[in-house]
Amino acid sequence: MSTRRSVLAVPGSNLRMIDKAKGLPADEIFLDLEDAVAPPAKAAARANIVAALNSPGWGKQIKVVRVNDWTTEWTYADVISVVEGAGRDLDAILLPKVLDGAQVRALDLLLTQLEKANGLEVGRIGIEPQIENAQGLRNIDEIATASPRVQTLVFGPADFMASINMRTLVVGEQPEGYEPGDAYHHILMTILLAARAHGLQAIDGPYLQIRDLDGFRRAASRTAALGFDGKWVLHPTQVEACNEIFSPRQADYDRAEEILDAYAYHTSTAGGARGAVMLGDEMIDEASAKMAQVVAEKGRAAAMTRTTSFVPPQA
Ligand code: GLV
Ligand code: MG
Repeated sequence: MSTRRSVLAVPGSNLRMIDKAKGLPADEIFLDLEDAVAPPAKAAARANIVAALNSPGWGKQIKVVRVNDWTTEWTYADVISVVEGAGRDLDAILLPKVLDGAQVRALDLLLTQLEKANGLEVGRIGIEPQIENAQGLRNIDEIATASPRVQTLVFGPADFMASINMRTLVVGEQPEGYEPGDAYHHILMTILLAARAHGLQAIDGPYLQIRDLDGFRRAASRTAALGFDGKWVLHPTQVEACNEIFSPRQADYDRAEEILDAYAYHTSTAGGARGAVMLGDEMIDEASAKMAQVVAEKGRAAAMTRTTSFVPPQA
């Protein structure tokens, strides 16, 4: 699956911002029909999005549209407009405020009909469910497995905090009075575990103080450390920082590749067929190789090049 370190949110109603987004090095760009678009502007935004997806000038970004959630009157027409108008140029639908597996299945069925009716490859358009309330979090396993189209699990912190009555207005910061703990840990870990259990990408939501790049870096670094694959970005200045934070550091990438090479050598017959060996001052074994594999794959996906190489010891 393609890497999604940075996921840029762009209002579907803003042609200028969509045009600018095409040239940015975000791994994914999603054009929003939901909360960034006011109700009277939704119909026009559908047409904007179709025109934008059909137009030239896109880079390699994964192209996604966020439709409105199934409790509104807009979802079906959002999906029909964008898939009929630009299905070939659309990689996934981001489905917000998901409550259960049935809502994912409903989108899957609608997409299948649209793909068949429009001569599109059936099953190619993915689904990115967004976890934004208590029901969604409680039903996360059925949401994750409701359709083979599901590619990611995405956290929606602002809606989530509102839905559970968390007493704060600042996304990403701890609610006052709960400072020694991390109010998000359970939510983030539940999303991450479900993603890993079902082979999906775990994506953190937005950091809303867009002028505070240090705050963004702090918030992004926390979820990157936990194991998330990427995070939303709301402004061009956040894109490079986000890509860097969700890629391995050069020294970690080099070390991971070295561990994999050393482990392959030492476990081979030529290398002595040993399971646990010293690499420098560290003992490495099968579990070290698995950890190294994760870092190496992230580095390769980010097109990093290694700056060191493993030299087998002289026999
Ligand atoms: C994003 O959709 C959020 O609710 O934080
Ligand atoms: Mg939301």
